Amino acid sequence: MSDARVTITPLKNGPNLVQGPVRLLGADGKEVEHKDSIALCRCGRSSSKPLCDGTHRSIGFEAAGVDPAAAKSAGQ
Ligand code: FES
Repeated sequence: MSDARVTITPLKNGPNLVQGPVRLLGADGKEVEHKDSIALCRCGRSSSKPLCDGTHRSIGFEAAGVDPAAAKSAGQ
């Protein structure tokens, strides 16, 4: 049996990586074809939103807030 859950992983100072059976729709409501995983921009500077285009690296994006993975391992 396969795991059909969607997983969202915030990458360190980068995009939110979405993995699993998810549909991505454009602003026009049409489905956007994508690979098995999607990197969604978290820095707000991508020129191809909602997808990450790597701009976060060149602008030195530093994510604020708590890393969910770190919080979980710390029991938060
Ligand atoms: S997170 Fe990569 S361009 Fe915004």
